[in-house]
Amino acid sequence: TKEIIIAPSILAADFARLGEEVAAIDAAGADWIHCDVMDGHFVPNISYGAEIIKAIRPMTSKIFDVHLMIAPVDPYLEGFAKAGADVITVHAEAGPHLDRSLQAIRALGKKAGVSLCPATPEGAIEYVLDRLDLVLVMTVNPGFGGQSFLDSQLEKIRRVRSMIGDRPIRLEVDGGITRDNAAAVAAAGADTLVAGSAVFRGNSSADYAGNIAAIRVA
Ligand code: DX5
Ligand code: ZN
Repeated sequence: TKEIIIAPSILAADFARLGEEVAAIDAAGADWIHCDVMDGHFVPNISYGAEIIKAIRPMTSKIFDVHLMIAPVDPYLEGFAKAGADVITVHAEAGPHLDRSLQAIRALGKKAGVSLCPATPEGAIEYVLDRLDLVLVMTVNPGFGGQSFLDSQLEKIRRVRSMIGDRPIRLEVDGGITRDNAAAVAAAGADTLVAGSAVFRGNSSADYAGNIAAIRVA
């Protein structure tokens, strides 16, 4: 079985000390750094953009996993690539042309991901599978950290796992992941787990390593 990647979301970090926070989760055993970019249009919240990602990029050598919750997305792909993104994930719903966006990401030399909101059926990726390095199944409605995991998405995770087959595509799950549901998510087929609140607060807001380890052990 594939090794599980844990990708803490820095949306839950202390933004006043963001660089130190990135260094701290790196030292605490994070595999990837998950960056949530929100535009106040595609989702009802504004987070941060490419300039912030560029500023924190030197704090770690780990993979930067950039989750773009923005529409339109195509005009900004190059900026995020230049800022230091390694994986760039766009939403299937952000449109208008998912196939074109995925081609553009790979043309920039980056790994291409697509994210599905809870109400979006897995069929949205059927004709772009060969352009994908990652599928992100949202287990909350995108826009905010700290929401509760939607059990309805476990079936979608299973279906996406079977659609992926033996392609080299990672299956990432994002939203409401905790040490209590991580095992069920992995059993459904996820191999990459995003966690914001569970890493930065978890059982102890002082013990990022313990919080990451608890998810990994689960
Ligand atoms: C939600 C974001 C998530 C979020 C996860 O729109 O995509 O990455 O930060 O935070 P938790 O783990 O607190 O649900
Ligand atoms: Zn995310």
